[in-house]
Parts: sequence; structure tokens; C-alpha cells
Amino acid sequence: MGKLILAIDQGTTGTTALLVDGDLHIRDRVNVEFPQHFPQPGRVEHDPEEIWTSVRAAVTGLLERADCRATDIAAIGITNQRETVLIWERESGRPCGNAIVWQDRRTADICDELKARGLEPLFRQRTGLVFDPYFSGTKLTWMLRQSPELAERAADGSLACGTIDSFLVWRLTGGRAHVTDVSNASRTLLLNLESLDWDMELADRLGIPLALLPEVRPSSQVYGTTCGLDFLPDGIPVAGMAGDQQAALFGQACFEPGDGKCTYGTGAFLLVNTGDRPVTSGSGLLTTVAWQIDGQTCYALEGSAFIAGAAVQWLRDGLGLIESSADIEALARQVPDSGGVVFVPALTGLGAPHWRPEARGGIFGLTRGTTRAHLARATLDGIALQIYELAAAMAEDLGEPLGEFRVDGGAAANDLLMQLQADLLRTDVVRPETIETTALGAALLAGLATGVWQGTEQIRQAWREERRFRPQMEDADRQRMLAGWRRAVGRV
Ligand code: G3P
Repeated sequence: MGKLILAIDQGTTGTTALLVDGDLHIRDRVNVEFPQHFPQPGRVEHDPEEIWTSVRAAVTGLLERADCRATDIAAIGITNQRETVLIWERESGRPCGNAIVWQDRRTADICDELKARGLEPLFRQRTGLVFDPYFSGTKLTWMLRQSPELAERAADGSLACGTIDSFLVWRLTGGRAHVTDVSNASRTLLLNLESLDWDMELADRLGIPLALLPEVRPSSQVYGTTCGLDFLPDGIPVAGMAGDQQAALFGQACFEPGDGKCTYGTGAFLLVNTGDRPVTSGSGLLTTVAWQIDGQTCYALEGSAFIAGAAVQWLRDGLGLIESSADIEALARQVPDSGGVVFVPALTGLGAPHWRPEARGGIFGLTRGTTRAHLARATLDGIALQIYELAAAMAEDLGEPLGEFRVDGGAAANDLLMQLQADLLRTDVVRPETIETTALGAALLAGLATGVWQGTEQIRQAWREERRFRPQMEDADRQRMLAGWRRAVGRV
């Protein structure tokens, strides 16, 4: 069967395990969903054991289905929902409670407190991030403030914390590696973008002891080997790790400054490669580490919209408007436009470029003539309009309009949404043959560290365009949509 890479994509709502072969083809995939916990309005938690169970089930199911021997696996690459963070006991490996998920808004007060202390410019300059509950740092502050006992054990080194990459590599290696990669670390409010290591002063300001934190490592390297698992043999190298959005940028072969991609998952994330220097945003975007390979660091500018596919799920589960997420396209196509309805899907606050955690979603312009189809159409408009805003901010920061960009993630399969995106941006939107570029990116990082691929050139050549969406909309219609959106955003 040749050498295969096992990619584990641990996302917000499920875990996907994929087998990638030496020709960069995805041989097979298995997705396993896991429960979401909403203990109070604005709070979102994951049970780490449920995450781990989903990883085990996805990998086991994949190996069975693909009729693959575990000995055919050359390496494992991990990619993950970012910012979600947890604490566990070093001795037993037992989690000390649920993980606080990136969407969770409970630390809005801590963010306000830090802003009031005038600390935002310092954190912004050193980490490229803003004070928003999105990032891991204040989630850890919250956990430690909640429990003096936890804080004491964190300081004496008996506890470990980490984002999901860190937790998975710990579990896969039988507790031998407590590490994270730079791309995930750059989402914590604790990583210094220049030194690419934890910033002691910032950790101190957030009340987080360094003894709790994992070691920061490059994105492509053997971190350890599998050990003591009941679903994989010992000795498989875990050799690639990156946050899911950075992995997607890599999997989309966006290797040159100016190359950009947008991934439409639970949220939607627009990232543009800015090369070997961090670019500071003056427009509310984030500076982030894209990856570090062989001592070379690549940075990116990022615009994060918290809700994209999740808005479609809300139409499905919250309103019962559609039976499956894929049905939204056919329903939205029943009408030529939203009939004046504007949906701002700020269901968990507004991310970039507004950063208003207290904002909530809003639907405007309803009339007696409004139908399900109009709501479906307004939902797709809302997703595309958020990305339009992010792209406009990006152009502002980069001093030139964004060129064509690549798309991936589940909702990139929606032709109507992709056409809308091209229309609003007035630029080509390009969809590759493989829209599972996140997992591909993780596999590539692992394969580079273990000699399955020699360099990025092979990857660049293997990337293939499936469809190009060119702008078509009349400018007057576009202007009308933009004006309606601006009014609506002002009201949420
Ligand atoms: O920053 C959050 C992001 O990493 C979540 O990604 O694909 O689970 O929506 P996804």
C-alpha cells in the first residue's frame, strides 16, 4: 500500500481521521461528532474525554474501513480547533474539568479588566492579538481564578495545560511529550511573536505560571512516538502539528506572501501569508504565526468570523428550516435575492474587525412576504458579507486589494455562496479539487518531517483547481447589499 500519513483533524464539532498517500490523495476519511456542552448562555465547553473518544473512534473506524494496517502509517499529523484550552494532571493524565471552547464568551469581564488596566497595546504589540474572550489566555486566567487549589497545583508544576494539539500529542505519546506548535501557541495571548516563545511578562499579567505551559515547537518535527494506545501500535512518529486555519493555508499551497485562503467551517477564517515578518494590523485583524519549518517562520494576517457554517446549523437545528445543511443552497436558489432581509450572524458576538463580544445576532427587514427561502438566502449573504468586511480590512493593512483567493471547508462546496463571495469581493474565488485542505496541511507537515515529501514544490504542483468563480453581480446590487449590511451591523 505504500507509506500513508494519518491526519487527525480535531474540529469544533467533530474529529475527522484521514489517510493521505504519497501522491497527496486522500484515500479515505471517517468523521465522528462529539457532544457540545452549553452550561450557561455564552458558555461553550467540550469534555476532553469525549474529544479523546472521538479521536479513537475516528482512527479505529478509518483503519477498518480503509483496510489499512497500522504498520503502513509512516507518521501522524495533527490539526485542531484553535484557542480551546484545558488543564490536566501530569501524573494521571486526567483532565481537571472541561475544556473552554474558543467560542465561549465567559471571559469578557476579564478582557474588560485588562483593557481598563491599559494593557491592550502591550499584548497587541507582542502577540498580534486583541483582548477578546476568543483567545486561550484569559480562559486559563478564568480557570485558575475559579479554584485556588488548581492555581496552587499549576504553580507547583503538577498540572499541565494546552490547546487541543497539545492534549492529543500528550495522549498519543503516553504522556511523554508536553508540547505545542508555534501556530497554536500564537493564539494564546502568551506567545511573543519575535522570540517565538512564551512571554514571561504577559504570562505574569494574566496570572498563568510558566510551569503549566507546554514547550513551544516548530510545526513540522517528530515530537514523540505513539505509546501505550489500544488503537495504534507503539512507535508511530507524531510529526506535524498546526492550528486548523494555518494548516489549511499550508494545504492550499499558499506559500508566497500575498497568497490567501478562506476556510468556511463552523466559523470562517481568512488568512493571508505575509512572509517572514509579522505585519501589524491597523484595521482590527490579527497577526498570527502560520508555521515554522526548518527554522523558517512564516506569518499571516487573519480575519476571523466566528459564525459561518454554524449559522446554517442554526437554521437546521434551531429553526428546523432545513433538514440537512446541504439543503440550504437549493432553498436559497428559490429566490433571486433575500427580499431585503439582512441576517447578521453574530450568534457568539462579533469577531474581526469589530471585536464586540457582547453583540448578538440580528435579522432585519422582515415583511409578511418573507419566506424560508429569503431567510436561507440572507444567511448565505451574511456569511459572505462578513468575509467581504475581513477582506476590506486586509486590503487596508496590506495597502492593496486582495487578489484571487482559495477556498475550502465544508461550505466551500456551496456554489451559490462561492458566487456571492466573488461578487461581493470583485475578485476570483478559486476552489481546489480537495476542499479538505486542513487535514492535507497537517499530513504535509508530518510527511515533510519524516521524508515522505522532500519539500513544498511537490505540494505546490499537486494543488489542482476545480472551479473558479468570477464576479458577475451588477455594481448597484452589490452596493445595495453592502449598505444594508452596514446598517444592520451597526444595530447589533
Ligand atoms: O479559531 C477557531 C478555529 O480554529 C475553529 O475551526 O474548523 O473547528 O470551525 P473549526
